[in-house]
Amino acid sequence: MMRTRPLKVALLGCGVVGSEVTRIITTQADDLAARIGAPIELAGIAVRRPHKVRDGVPAELLTTDATALVKRGDIDVVVEVIGGIEPVRTLITTAFEHGASVVSANKALLAADGASLHAKAVEHGVDLYYEAAVAGAIPLIRPLRESLAGDRVNRVLGIVNGTTNFILDKMDSTGAGYSEALEEATALGYAEADPTADVEGFDAAAKAAILAGIAFHTRVTIDDVHREGLTEVTAADIASARKMGCTVKMLAICERSADGRSVTARVHPAMIPLSHPLASVREAYNAVFVEAEAAGRLMFYGPGAGGAPTASAVLGDLVTACRNKLAATIGAGESAYTRLPVSPMGDVVTRYHISLDVADKPGVLAQVATVFAQHEVSIGTVRQQGRNQGSGDDAAVEQSSGGQRAGGEASLVVVTHRATDAALSATVAALRELDTVRGVASIMRVEGE
Ligand code: NDP
Ligand code: HSE
Repeated sequence: MMRTRPLKVALLGCGVVGSEVTRIITTQADDLAARIGAPIELAGIAVRRPHKVRDGVPAELLTTDATALVKRGDIDVVVEVIGGIEPVRTLITTAFEHGASVVSANKALLAADGASLHAKAVEHGVDLYYEAAVAGAIPLIRPLRESLAGDRVNRVLGIVNGTTNFILDKMDSTGAGYSEALEEATALGYAEADPTADVEGFDAAAKAAILAGIAFHTRVTIDDVHREGLTEVTAADIASARKMGCTVKMLAICERSADGRSVTARVHPAMIPLSHPLASVREAYNAVFVEAEAAGRLMFYGPGAGGAPTASAVLGDLVTACRNKLAATIGAGESAYTRLPVSPMGDVVTRYHISLDVADKPGVLAQVATVFAQHEVSIGTVRQQGRNQGSGDDAAVEQSSGGQRAGGEASLVVVTHRATDAALSATVAALRELDTVRGVASIMRVEGE
């Protein structure tokens, strides 16, 4: 039975995502009404610049007074696609207080303050949904929260930022420069309002916090996530990865510890083998592996950014929130009962690729190997690349370990076996003390093996 009184929806923000949400709500109105059991009415759209030309957006609905919109009292669902922390947190809280459920794509806010927003939603008997906040169009939050609610998730690993994947893909496959690739990602609507959030890993860290919290039924905020950005990755790192049969990807990794008593969450560039499924994730696509005890290994893949893909996830939540409103019910809220602590990065165990600039003379390799041994970091492989004195050319010779040439400098690439991040950091600190180590050119984790 179709209810004739429409459900009123307020849209906060009408940019890359909001304009696509508007388009789908207006062009798919009949289908949405049939699926929900009542029509949806767009009651108002809050923006900053009401006079900006917006194709397909009813101008009479635009307002700059977002507060008045969420305070109207007759709004059933508020869709928030503005982004950032304030004024959005206040607007969402006000919406709850006035009886509206909220659908948001805002990972920054959810990762900073998800727990108190969930609590507010429960207090006012309304829903808070945010499928679009992680990995664009890919259904990931609902599968973790609902489909895997009976299983025990031990690991979530993947590419969750479209912009950085786009940049790395372009640098690797077309030889494009970093700035050029970032500009293109921004023009395509993938990057955040401030792209620093993407390239410095804040966006992926926020997503990792959200995923870890849901996967492990605990509270994880962005401050708990170890974060390293993309800006340190050089063309030399990418070339070195190629030599090892690897590529460089920006990964988010959330893990339950072996004894199950703590979790870790981290975001950083890492080398992964070309044979790994994540290596073939191109452009702004995302892919996430979820490892659960009973289900085994699941892979989620799809467009991770962009207006229309993200609007798809927003609309999915909107339909659910509207159905709940009609049924006078709410969906499952936050599940954080395990209260597992988040361990520091030093406890993380993985493999490392370390590139050192060393003096090219007898005994250096042995010295370096000794430092690794002293810190109980086991070496997997060593590759030495000599440098022609005077030419500065590092493509001169490639030799197996032990084949140093007298004089000059060499580049030594060490790949370790699994070690803790703390042991690796101590090793690197000790290497920097050696006279024969002129510099540590790069350190990158090796994942996915
Ligand atoms: P945009 O910058 O394109 O759009 C932001 C919108 O918010 C604009 O319409 C802007 O108005 C409006 N706005 C900004 N401040 C205010 C304010 N104080 N009051 C009212 N309106 C305001 O961002 P996106 O659409 O790209 O992103 C929106 C959200 O979706 C963010 O949380 C982002 O992280 C998230 N997201 C984005 C994805 C993407 O691929 N772009 C993917 C997944 C999530 P005006 O148009 O007048 O400037
Ligand atoms: N800036 C984000 C990204 C948008 O590039 O992944 C999707 O969350």
